Amino acid sequence: MSALDLGGKAAVVTGAGQGLGRAYAVALARAGASVVVNDVDARAAQETAALAGERAVVVTGDVGERAVADALVARAVETFGRLDAMVTNAGVLRDAVLWKMTDEDFDLVVRTHLRGTFLCARAAAVRMRDQGQGGRIIVVGSPAGQYGNFGQTNYAASKAGVVAFARTWALELARASITVNAVVPTAWTAMTATIPIYKPLAASVAAGQPLPPAVRREHAIGRPEDCAGLVVFLASEAAAGISGQAIGIGGDRLCLYSHPAEIVTELRDGGWDAAAIAAIWQERLAAHVQPYGVRLPKLELG
Ligand SMILES: NC(=O)c1ccc[n+]([C@@H]2O[C@H](COP(=O)([O-])OP(=O)(O)OC[C@H]3O[C@@H](n4cnc5c(N)ncnc54)[C@H](O)[C@@H]3O)[C@@H](O)[C@H]2O)c1
Repeated sequence: MSALDLGGKAAVVTGAGQGLGRAYAVALARAGASVVVNDVDARAAQETAALAGERAVVVTGDVGERAVADALVARAVETFGRLDAMVTNAGVLRDAVLWKMTDEDFDLVVRTHLRGTFLCARAAAVRMRDQGQGGRIIVVGSPAGQYGNFGQTNYAASKAGVVAFARTWALELARASITVNAVVPTAWTAMTATIPIYKPLAASVAAGQPLPPAVRREHAIGRPEDCAGLVVFLASEAAAGISGQAIGIGGDRLCLYSHPAEIVTELRDGGWDAAAIAAIWQERLAAHVQPYGVRLPKLELG
């Protein structure tokens, strides 16, 4: 049996009614897994389950509700007898610059990504620890969380937090052989189709035209299916030793992200006052200040 074969394993994918979550659920099922398909949209989730085949079941509901998160794991155990992988993909955008962001939009995005990931991962960790056979928790970050992004206060903070979850849970769950990694996907979905620079592509993509090579390679934007191989790999025995990582995937691109690290360190007996910092800043740190914000290469559409 190939190390990538998921036969006999059971997975949950949240927010799997469309886009990336649908692609993950279908790919996991094709690799042999039984799948619990979740979404707030019941009809969309049913459609995904139909695409995933006979070993797929649906649990509708909001991942920000504890009862829904617990029900996802319970359904996997009742129907398939076990849980091997939890993929916390459900997500929403409510973009606005800081000074225009409403309390409601902040709370919805934080609730869906941070609380939703926490609730689902906790329910999965409890079951996987009891099961005693290891497991996989695959959370979902974003370039916005890695770099910061204009207009995405709520989303960037949530996604950075999700990657921090992965690093923390990788430590806590290592003894139970449960790996935790963050996938940082980019794909053409309902979410990306709204980004202004991609608007000129919307009609051709909707008509089934392939995304241009420059978009697939430089922007890492392809079809949702282009991201699904990473989720299958991480869910498999082939990825047993990989934990605490943030891994980018999209279009023709696969990348491993660095973790934040000290790049310049200075020591001063007795510590640092403002004047000493001002002096050393120019001398030693100024040359190393870091770029920030998602930066996409200019898009030349022929
Ligand atoms: N598309 C991209 O390029 C991209 C880039 C970075 C990160 N992501 C992340 O990948 C994930 C999927 O993105 P997508 O582009 O497929 O988005 P999408 O909007 O196409 O799909 C998201 C799905 O999640 C569901 N959902 C929303 N809130 C939910 C909730 N509270 N409970 C259950 N389901 C809920 C929606 O109904 C929808 O079906 C998200 O976490 C997103 O932030 C996407």
